[in-house]
Amino acid sequence: MNLIEWIELPSLGDQRGSLVVGEAGKHIPFDIKRFYYIFDVDMQVPRGFHAHKELVQVAFCIQGSCKMLMDNGKEKSEVLLNQVNKGLLIPPMIWHEMHDFSKDCILLVLASQHYDENDYIRNYTKFQAIRD
Ligand code: TYD
Repeated sequence: MNLIEWIELPSLGDQRGSLVVGEAGKHIPFDIKRFYYIFDVDMQVPRGFHAHKELVQVAFCIQGSCKMLMDNGKEKSEVLLNQVNKGLLIPPMIWHEMHDFSKDCILLVLASQHYDENDYIRNYTKFQAIRD
């Protein structure tokens, strides 16, 4: 699997305004059990710094922009999220870090499971050990 996979949602805007739509199982490759959004960020403070054992997520920057570092333990790639209809797939066992938030950034994340702290790997050395 490619380290960077984008999910593009249909844009159905017209003269009245913009509209982006996504359906679970059709555009989003899982049943959405949870969503959260990050906004009013401290622009200087990066976040994330973890991987998940099983959780699958898709992150959309629905306003502003931020960067996401993706790391599978062997390869790293940094991408810019700045398109409302283009989401980044975050599969399990990918170490990810968000940074360079614009002041107005709103990052919407769709998740395949309810919140479970036991699914987090928050130590990079442990991540690499599990990965190998
Ligand atoms: P945290 O994992 O530190 O956020 P980030 O990945 O952006 O660095 O989450 C911040 C706090 O919110 C932490 O105490 C866990 C809690 N939290 C939930 O309770 N439910 C959730 O769905 C998420 C994403 C976080």
